[in-house]
Amino acid sequence: MRKKLLALLWIITLSTCLRTALGVYKIGVGIADCTGPAAEVTFIGYGKSNQKGCGIHLRQFSRAFVIDDGSQRVAFVSVDAGMMGYGVRKAVISRLQKQYKDTYTESNLILSGTHTHSAPGGFLMDFLYDIPSLGYVKETFEALVDGITRSVVRAHENMVDGKIFISTGELTGANINRSPTSYLLNPEEERDRYKYDVDKEMVQLQLVNSAKSTIGVISWFPVHPTSMNNTNCLISSDNVGYASVLMEKFLNKNSLVGQGRIVAAFASTNLGDVSPNIKGPRCLTTGEECDVVSSTCDGQAKLCVAAGPGDNMFESTKIIAEKLFEQSKILLQSANAKEVTGPVRHIHQYVDMPTQNVTIALPNGTITHVTGCLPAMGYSFAAGTTDGVGELGFAQGTKSTNSYWNTLRDLLFKATEEDIRCQHPKPILINSGRISIPYQWQPRIVSTQIVQVGEVLLIAVPGEFTTMSGRRLRNSVQEAAISNGASPDTKAIITGLSNVYTSYITTPEEYQMQRYEGASTIYGPHTLTIYIEKYKELIRALLKEEKLDSGPLPVDLSHKVISLQPGVVFDTPGLIHHFGDCLLQPPTRTRVRSKVRVKFVSGHPRNNLMNEKTFLTVEKLTDGDKWIIVATDADWETKFIWTRTSTLIGGSEATIEWEIPYDATSGLYRIHHFGYFQHIFGGVHPYSGVTNTFQVIQ
Ligand SMILES: *[C@@H]1O[C@H](CO)[C@@H](O)[C@H](O)[C@H]1NC(C)=O
Ligand SMILES: *[C@@H]1O[C@H](CO)[C@@H](O)[C@H](O)[C@H]1NC(C)=O
Ligand SMILES: *[C@@H]1O[C@H](CO)[C@@H](O)[C@H](O)[C@H]1NC(C)=O
Repeated sequence: MRKKLLALLWIITLSTCLRTALGVYKIGVGIADCTGPAAEVTFIGYGKSNQKGCGIHLRQFSRAFVIDDGSQRVAFVSVDAGMMGYGVRKAVISRLQKQYKDTYTESNLILSGTHTHSAPGGFLMDFLYDIPSLGYVKETFEALVDGITRSVVRAHENMVDGKIFISTGELTGANINRSPTSYLLNPEEERDRYKYDVDKEMVQLQLVNSAKSTIGVISWFPVHPTSMNNTNCLISSDNVGYASVLMEKFLNKNSLVGQGRIVAAFASTNLGDVSPNIKGPRCLTTGEECDVVSSTCDGQAKLCVAAGPGDNMFESTKIIAEKLFEQSKILLQSANAKEVTGPVRHIHQYVDMPTQNVTIALPNGTITHVTGCLPAMGYSFAAGTTDGVGELGFAQGTKSTNSYWNTLRDLLFKATEEDIRCQHPKPILINSGRISIPYQWQPRIVSTQIVQVGEVLLIAVPGEFTTMSGRRLRNSVQEAAISNGASPDTKAIITGLSNVYTSYITTPEEYQMQRYEGASTIYGPHTLTIYIEKYKELIRALLKEEKLDSGPLPVDLSHKVISLQPGVVFDTPGLIHHFGDCLLQPPTRTRVRSKVRVKFVSGHPRNNLMNEKTFLTVEKLTDGDKWIIVATDADWETKFIWTRTSTLIGGSEATIEWEIPYDATSGLYRIHHFGYFQHIFGGVHPYSGVTNTFQVIQ
């Protein structure tokens, strides 16, 4: 009996090894809607408190990919959100564990935000990041946690045998460096090894089932999703999100957005100093170039703004998205895609950054120690960037201080001599590490994590690495991996804005200039140096199968958070109308490529976020009597715009726009609006309304 059992075990072990050596994995993909409140909540990204939601252009989705080699499992999730935070991840893991025990843990689950700047905030909990949204916003948090969990469940429930391929290619004309003068401070011999001051390589994983059909695609290309600028108030997944929509429409043969079985993510990587606004920064007054160090015109930062390749932000978003999509398609069809083979492994450690003290060798051989600092933001943080200027009149590249702001700073949180020395040359504006009123402002404890799938290493980083920071980290991890026995073909990929959010990570050289990215490198000049050491330790331990201490747990802020965001009080349709009444009808006849605009009496969109549903449908009459849905509020061609018409009586209107695509077929159409209203005596009730039928002609 014992012998038989041993033989059986041996066979199981052997077959597992064989499977991964041949590159057969169990793979699963899932997509779920995680759109936050579509109105009145401030977007996170630009830090502009009056950039509040007013509707939906593109919905937010969570895209999950699960890979299992028969003994170990990992899950990578890319989320259309500003970033990811500890609270969201903790809640997702706890929900997954209710359903699947310890299948998904901190160690094997990566949550990575795409970094769209056009989605509601209030979910990070750390006080500084939630200030623009007036504190914590439960609806945003819950929508993310629900959607992310659902996407992983869907992937989990649809696991099949399959293979994974990796391919890379160069994409030009889709990104520029927005702090090129900081980049130039990196050593010349290092810069000489690279053709550009941003990475232009797209790295792509393709998940293929045993019938050789693609079921999932993950593409990493560094670019800020800031094609939509800080005047936009419609929820949007921006350039990378729309690239996903385009790829999913292509692979799923035009199923409705977010409802196809094949899932394609365009995930974030080392995008810290990378802008999609490729026309570059210009002076609004003269059209000339701005001052390159301070990004100002006549001393004013607000006059220096970068724009994209298009004539407006929608066009720019579309152009960048199409470039990403086309490059990804080329890689999908590329003959030089390599099959990924080898085991699945994962490792995770929490690190208290301010207390780190790492030993490094200087180029001249001198051994020295560098340490982390308590979190602090520099003056130039308040300047913002040329993708979105700050509101207080600061300029980038500020190394001097100003007694007015210092006095104000010291009133809130005194900066000690030690803080000032540690962060030097950063002039401290917000000494977030020394204040705990009302609770933690920025994290001290970060999540560090590496996931291995054969030759591929996913390095999950808790923030925005600049181009050169990313290159240094990738190279160091790759070298450490190879010298610890990994394949010489090892490919390290940075998965950006993962798990915990801690703003930026520049190189120590870039830090010296104190542009926005340097001012937002919160643990001081040696932040990157510390990360490189920590991730080298991780990869060594992973490959040597050593156990690492799990590190100190971050503080759980979920019981402390404050919300000042008012809720919905009540809705009324006015005296003569009902909810869902159509106030503006479409023309009876219209042509493709023209825009249809209609209006309804509506309720507040925060009464129900309509996750996995829609605030609108565009429908076409087929077979004489059947209405089929041709578009929802998640489509590029539609916009759902909500406006308050009376605060006093809680009146509001929903405007729906549909840009009729050139390939729409002639026929009869109508537009439906769906929503919920809050009754004055309580209770939330659904309503709907529909337009007259209209004719579309080619
Ligand atoms: C944002 O883009 C719009 C065009 O879509 C433009 O009119 C506006 O000036 C831009 N604003 C900023 C601050 O970049
Ligand atoms: C860092 O550690 C070294 C020895 O390991 C020590 O000499 C040095 O004082 C430490 N630095 C700080 C700031 O703690
Ligand atoms: C090595 O370089 C560091 C920093 O530039 C300097 O402080 C140190 O004196 C140098 N050591 C030697 C032995 O030249």
